[in-house]
Amino acid sequence: AGGDPALGKHVFNRCIACHEAATDRDKVGPHLMGVVGRTAGSAESFLGHYSGAMKSAGAAGLVWDEANLAEYLKAPRLKVPGNKMMFAGLTNDDDIANVIAYLKADPKP
Ligand code: HEM
Repeated sequence: AGGDPALGKHVFNRCIACHEAATDRDKVGPHLMGVVGRTAGSAESFLGHYSGAMKSAGAAGLVWDEANLAEYLKAPRLKVPGNKMMFAGLTNDDDIANVIAYLKADPKP
C-alpha cells in the first residue's frame, strides 16, 4: 500500500531480465501482467516451467496480494521454500512498496 508506481517502474529494472509486466510474454520467469491478485504458480503460459514448490504454494492457497508479494520480494526463499527464482530479494521496504504499486497499476508497454 502507498507505493509510487513511477518509482516502482525504476525498481522493476532489477526484475526485467527475467520478467515482463506490461505484456504477457514470459522470459526466464513468468510474465507479471496482472500478478497482483493472481494465485501463485498459475500463469497459464508458464505452467510447464514453474517449480513444484511454486505450484504447490498456489495449490495450498497462496495468492499474490500485496502483503504476500511484499514478503516474497523481501525474502523469496523464506516465503516459498524451494522456489527457483534466482534473486536474493529487495532489502529496501520503499522499493518493495513502489514495485508492487507499479505492478498493480497495470503497466503499459
Ligand atoms: C517468480 C516477482 C526478479 C525469476 C516470481 C513471482 C513473482 C516474481 C511475483 C511469482 C509469480 C507467479 O507465481 O506467477 C519478481 C520481482 C522481481 C523479480 C518483482 C524484481 C524485484 C527476478 C529475477 C529473476 C526471476 C531477477 C531471474 C534471475 C523468476 C522465476 C520465477 C519467478 C524463474 C518462477 C519461480 C518458481 O517457479 O519457483 N517472480 N521477480 N525473478 N521469478 Fe521473479
